[in-house]
Amino acid sequence: METLRWEKGTLYLLDQTKLPFEEIYLPCRKWQDVRQAISVLAVRGAPAIGVAAAYAVVLAARACCEKGQDDTFLADLTAICKALDAARPTAVNLHWALTRMLAAAGEGGTPQAITARLEEKAIAIHQEDLAVNCAMARFGADELGKSGKKLTLLTHCNAGALATAGVGTALGVIRELHRRGLVSMVYADETRPLLQGARLTAFELMADHIPVTLITDNMAAWTLKTKGVDAIIVGADRIAANGDTANKIGTYGLSLMARELAIPLYIAAPASTFDLSITDGSQIPIEERNHDEVRSFRGVAAALPETPVFNPAFDVTPHENIRAIVTEKGIIHRPDAVSVPAFFQH
Ligand code: MRU
Repeated sequence: METLRWEKGTLYLLDQTKLPFEEIYLPCRKWQDVRQAISVLAVRGAPAIGVAAAYAVVLAARACCEKGQDDTFLADLTAICKALDAARPTAVNLHWALTRMLAAAGEGGTPQAITARLEEKAIAIHQEDLAVNCAMARFGADELGKSGKKLTLLTHCNAGALATAGVGTALGVIRELHRRGLVSMVYADETRPLLQGARLTAFELMADHIPVTLITDNMAAWTLKTKGVDAIIVGADRIAANGDTANKIGTYGLSLMARELAIPLYIAAPASTFDLSITDGSQIPIEERNHDEVRSFRGVAAALPETPVFNPAFDVTPHENIRAIVTEKGIIHRPDAVSVPAFFQH
């Protein structure tokens, strides 16, 4: 099962809103289709959003070519990238991919030549994500598995194959640990309100025969306390220069539990998830989503329609609560304002 596929100029996205019950691919022939898919979380997870956005730029460039106004080509493309960028404000991989695509567009040539170069670039970004996932999985498994003991782990949301173009970030590490015979059990938080843990993570792990137990989010503290959890491992949507990390809402709470119970919290994220332009997590924009996501699920009401709601999609975990960040370039132990920038200077 592929999260996304580029075939003969069309981007096919596995519609994650339908999982795990239906496996339907959405054909995207226009950049607006991709933007819509990103907004409704048909494609989601920071790295997968970045790859999808790169292909959206190719679709946009094609549309701009068809318009036949060469003099406005780059300006039109830039405006479209801005619109794509606004689809999910927290996941910086989206911005990262769009910046790379625009830089490639800026290298000059006719609109047709630029479009051809953009397609090559998007394919390269896609391939890169695959390689990055594998490297992260190995570094993470070396670090978490160094005692040689079988581990009980807890994860939140979905940082798996469905959130990337490869084996996943946090779930990539878990897959590699499992391959090495080092996973005893993975507890998966269901992840309210959109249930990425229940619908996607449990589904992915079961498909790979990795032992998984689904819990509701409010069971996490008790599970950590009573089930011998060795470590928590999650993904990230944006990491500031001091290591403060935005991830799916609920991660901050987990980090507080982890601190109280002396359980290490690991983040697995590629370099493209770091935003070294911001000094700390207070500068990370937190996406707030439609209130109906909290009042209901798949059309079934859980509260009165007029119930006031707060629906932040992400929270920020302070770097002090993070034991280490696993990247494709190695591990950042005890991330802070010194260790994170130093790591990227090498
Ligand atoms: O709202 P989502 O489903 O896009 O949120 C996804 C997460 O928070 C993931 O943990 C994060 O993007 C890392 S994915 C490898």
